Amino acid sequence: MITMKNVIREGHKTLETVAKEVKIPLTQADKKLLKEMLEYVKNSQNDEMVEKYDLRPAVGIAAPQVNVSKRMFAVHVSDFDGTQYSYALVNPVLKAKGNGIIYVPGGEGCLSVDRITEGLTPRYSSVTFEALSYDIPSGELIPIELYLEGYVGIVFQHEFDHLNGIMYTTKLFPEIPNAKPAFEYIIEEEAI
Ligand code: NI
Repeated sequence: MITMKNVIREGHKTLETVAKEVKIPLTQADKKLLKEMLEYVKNSQNDEMVEKYDLRPAVGIAAPQVNVSKRMFAVHVSDFDGTQYSYALVNPVLKAKGNGIIYVPGGEGCLSVDRITEGLTPRYSSVTFEALSYDIPSGELIPIELYLEGYVGIVFQHEFDHLNGIMYTTKLFPEIPNAKPAFEYIIEEEAI
């Protein structure tokens, strides 16, 4: 299983490297990693598991964060209306983005960043991704298109940035003109 011991931290070169496309069909190692990434995020939202394994709460994790420079990430997050987004994605492509700019009011956090950061990170108000979704029980890859708004969209953009070697710490601003806060369902202290 993935624990914080497996997570590399800012300054590591892999976090600043554009990750490689994943070859299809997936290898056994790719499948194991996808499953373990989603498990990490789910476990990190379970108090008992957090205590037992010293996990840092998160809503997403990307393969480069465990030093695997491949285009895969996992997200497990609820929207303000309770809709659950739980995905292990392969080779996501950003197909469209909204015109508005939004941000997490308290600023973003990241499993690979141990310090408290100051500043806001501009994100698109909505995003549409095409990707292959790894279905864990069946082991199948299912092509999907995801339209994501608000906070959930921010979580996916943060993980997608990891695949391009971009840390949110390179996009911190004291204020963002004409941007709106994403108020929806924000749990403090959850890293993305
Ligand atoms: Ni992150």
